[in-house]
Amino acid sequence: MKIAFFDTKPYDKPAFEKYGAEKGITFKFYETKLNEDTVDLAHGADGVCVFVNDTVNAAVIDRLCELGVKVVALRCAGFNNVDMKHAYGKIHVLRVPAYSPYAVAEHAMALLLTSIRRIHKAYIRTKDFNFSLGGLTGFDLHGKTVGVIGTGRIGRVFINICRGFGMKVLAYDKFPAEGLEDGENIRYVSLDELFENSDIISLHCPLNEETRHVIDASSIEKCKRGVVILNTSRGGLVDAEALLAGIKSRKVGAACLDVYEEESELFFEDKSGHILEDDTLARLISMPNVIVTSHQAFLTEEALSNIAETTVNNLVELLNNNCCENELCHKCSGAEGCRGRKCF
Ligand code: NAI
Repeated sequence: MKIAFFDTKPYDKPAFEKYGAEKGITFKFYETKLNEDTVDLAHGADGVCVFVNDTVNAAVIDRLCELGVKVVALRCAGFNNVDMKHAYGKIHVLRVPAYSPYAVAEHAMALLLTSIRRIHKAYIRTKDFNFSLGGLTGFDLHGKTVGVIGTGRIGRVFINICRGFGMKVLAYDKFPAEGLEDGENIRYVSLDELFENSDIISLHCPLNEETRHVIDASSIEKCKRGVVILNTSRGGLVDAEALLAGIKSRKVGAACLDVYEEESELFFEDKSGHILEDDTLARLISMPNVIVTSHQAFLTEEALSNIAETTVNNLVELLNNNCCENELCHKCSGAEGCRGRKCF
């Protein structure tokens, strides 16, 4: 099986080459992202392997089908960059639903601690032998209330970490998890109640039409003064202009962003020699109480290995059964060998 691998980074190759060689899958690695201009690179391939900022819109799907490409293998959990409605009935779409919820949840906590204990400031000071403490006063997490939007795999790991710090948890999920509430320190509440009572808000839900800009001017207005916003999920969950306004007005005390709505042309790339065109991002980064990492939360050795292994297994399962447990949309419903699982 030949797979055209888009948006390749050096850290992707070792694990994919290892698991691919074990299962007879050849990856052809391209640094470019998949989009209308690059889709023809998939010529001769059975499938494409893509990541969060590749474009799998209707035009790309149609061209992939014309080229005889049978499968889009996402090497990530989120699939908001795929036009699922258009893909249905035309091409298989596989994903890696979970690779390390710990990687993302631990990064969220790393960002939170860095921000509220001013570690990013202290690191730069002591590098310059500046041992003063002025302006580095933080606050205890113990006893604070964290609002967690999305209590799936990552959200629940994050809740456990927060409980370890002695925090109270207000949770919101469209589909609440059974058995999560403990009657005292973890409670499901309405979104408004979460906004009104949380000292920290962390986003762990997928990006869809219901969740787009769940953090906007009106939700920020409902929040406590000094609220800390954490987004390690998807950039589109936060209206960046509204967040910036909230920071300028001092309503938002701090923001930690691993994702950004307009990240696709920026994140994962070295833009240090360039003029940043995005004024909102530039202004956010310039703020002393904003920390931005470039979609790094997934980046642990464990997660990279799991991503490669699951992607290869997905492709092998599809090849053998014409169906795959981690398929999002397929054209073989009811066909022999199809186990009809988790299909859209
Ligand atoms: P999951 O599917 O286990 O959990 C998502 C939760 O969100 C579910 O409990 C679901 O019921 C809930 N949800 C769905 N619609 C909702 C709505 N309208 N309002 C509130 N909650 C809603 O997903 P998982 O593995 O926990 O991942 C969460 C998100 O994290 C992914 O969608 C992805 O966008 C992001 N992610 C970010 C990474 C990074 O490197 N920064 C890496 C991996 C995932």
